[in-house]
Amino acid sequence: MTSTWWHDAVVYQIYPRSFSDSNNDGEGDLIGIRNRLAHVASLGVDAIWLSPFYQSPNRDGGYDVSDPRAIDPRFGTLLDFQQLMQRANELGLKVIVDLVPNHFSDQHDWFKAALASPPNSPARNRFHFYDGKGVHGELPPNNWESVFGGPSWTRITESDGKPGQWYLHLFDSSQPDLNWNNPEVNEDFEKTIKFWLDQGVAGFRIDVAHGLAKDEIYQDHPDPVGLTAALRLDVTDIDPEYRKQLLSDIPFFDRDGVHKIYRGWRNLIDTYPGDRFFVAEAWVYPTSRAVRYVRPDELHQIFNFDFLTIQWNAEEIRAAVDKITSEFKNVTAPPTWVLDNHDSPRVVTRLGGGAIGLAKARALAMVTQALPGNLYIYQGEELGLEDAPVLPEHRQDPIFFRTNGVQLGRDGVRVPIPWEGDAPPFGFAEFNSWLPLPAHWRELSVAAQQQDSQSTLNLYRKLLKIRKSHPALGGLAGVSWQDAPTGILRFRREPGFELVANTTDAEFKFTTAKTLLAASMPIQTTGSDVTLPPHTTIWLSE
Ligand code: NOJ
Repeated sequence: MTSTWWHDAVVYQIYPRSFSDSNNDGEGDLIGIRNRLAHVASLGVDAIWLSPFYQSPNRDGGYDVSDPRAIDPRFGTLLDFQQLMQRANELGLKVIVDLVPNHFSDQHDWFKAALASPPNSPARNRFHFYDGKGVHGELPPNNWESVFGGPSWTRITESDGKPGQWYLHLFDSSQPDLNWNNPEVNEDFEKTIKFWLDQGVAGFRIDVAHGLAKDEIYQDHPDPVGLTAALRLDVTDIDPEYRKQLLSDIPFFDRDGVHKIYRGWRNLIDTYPGDRFFVAEAWVYPTSRAVRYVRPDELHQIFNFDFLTIQWNAEEIRAAVDKITSEFKNVTAPPTWVLDNHDSPRVVTRLGGGAIGLAKARALAMVTQALPGNLYIYQGEELGLEDAPVLPEHRQDPIFFRTNGVQLGRDGVRVPIPWEGDAPPFGFAEFNSWLPLPAHWRELSVAAQQQDSQSTLNLYRKLLKIRKSHPALGGLAGVSWQDAPTGILRFRREPGFELVANTTDAEFKFTTAKTLLAASMPIQTTGSDVTLPPHTTIWLSE
C-alpha cells in the first residue's frame, strides 16, 4: 500500500465548547481554539479533529445539527473558522471536522417542514415518520429503544390538533433520524461534504457511521432492553456470549445498506486534491464486520474502540493488538487507537483514578503510541485529567435526563481544560465556565505541567517526538512479541525498537544492552540491569 500521512497520523480531538473561551461567555469558541493552537502543535501531532461547531440548539452537545453548513454563533463565524484554518496551516496542522448524518436536530428547517406537512408528504419522507400500531395508532411502530435510554419513537400532534404519526430517533427525541432511502438526503450531505472540503478541511469523522440504514420498521426486536444494555460500555453484568449475539445483529446498526453511501462519498472525496480522508465512528461487532467499512473503495479509517475498555493487563492488551492488526491486514486501511474521547470515561479514571490510575494510563499511552497505525488523543488526555465531578444542576447530557439520572452521562469528561493560573476556570475563560473546573486542576494546568519535566504533558511531547523520529515507530509494520512472564508485555519493532511494560503489582527486573528512550515513570538502571516498577512502560532502542 502506498503510504500517506493519515496512515500513521496523530490526531488531537478538540471539543470546541471546552477548549478555550475567547469572549468570556463561559463556553469555548473558534477564536479560543485559534489562540491556543500552539499548545496542540507543541505536542507534535499532525491534525486536529473538531467536534461539531455547527448551528445547533445544543441538546446533545452539538451533535444535534440544525444547519450543517453554518457555524453556531456561540462558536463564532465562518471568518473565525477560516482564520483558524489559516493558523492551523501555519503550524503544520491539518483540520478534520465532524459529519453527523444519522440525524438532524428537530430545529432543522427540514424537520419543521415535516411537522407542518401531512403524512406521506415529501417533507415527511426525509425522516422516518410512520403510523403507530394499535387501533388508534397509539403504539409506536416498533419496540426499539433509544441508545440514550427510553423509547426511540415520539408521537407528534398533527396540524388538526390530533395525535398523529411517530418519528424515529435512535438518540434524543430532538434528533430525528434521517431517511437514507430518500436520495435528497444524500444530495444534501454531498453538498455539506463539498462545502467543508472547499474550506480546506483534510477529512471528516463520521458520527454513527453504522446507523444510516435500517431494517424493516414494523418489526419488533426480541430483547430491546437487553440490546440497550449490550450497547453500553459500562454494563458488565451481561453474559458475554449473549452480548455478542445481540451485538452481531442489530436492526438499526451495521446494515448492508450503509456501504453504498460510503462508496459514493469516497468517489466524491477522491475528486479533491491532497490526501483527505474519512474516519468512521462505527461500533460494529465483530471486527471482521468493522473492516468492511474500510474496504479500498469505501472509508479510509474506522475507530477501533477496543482500548476504550481494555484493562491494564498484558495478556488482554496483546490479544487485542493481535486481533486488530490481523483483521486490518486483510484491508488496505491502517488500524486506529483511541484511549478516550468526549463520550467515554477519561482513561485515568477508567483505570482506577488517583496515582495508580495515572500511572497505568501513562503506561498504557506508551503502549498505544508505539503501535502501528493512527492515534487519536482527546483534549486533556495529555494532561492526565480525570473525569471531573459535576453537580446535578449542572448536568446537560440527554443521557442523564432520559435515564432519570440512573446514568450520569458524559458531562464529567467534557469539563473545560485547565490552561494556567491559581483559580478556576484556570485560563479557560476569564470568569466562569459552563461546567466548573475542580480546584485541584491547578497542578494539572498546561502552565503548571510545562515546568515539570516528569509531567504527563512533557511525557506526551517526548513520546510523540520519538514516535516521529525513530525509524521503527509510526508506519504500519507490525509488532513482534517477545517471550515474557505473565503480566509483562514485551514487543519489538524493527529496526531496533523494543517496548517492555509491567502490568503487575510487583517490580520486574531484567537486563538489556539497549538504550533507554523513555519511561512512563522514573526507573532505576544499574549498568544493563533494569528494575521496572509496577505499572510502568519503557521504550528501548538499539
Ligand atoms: C456519537 C457522538 O460522539 C456522541 O457525542 C453523540 O451523542 C452521538 N453520536 C449521537 O450523535
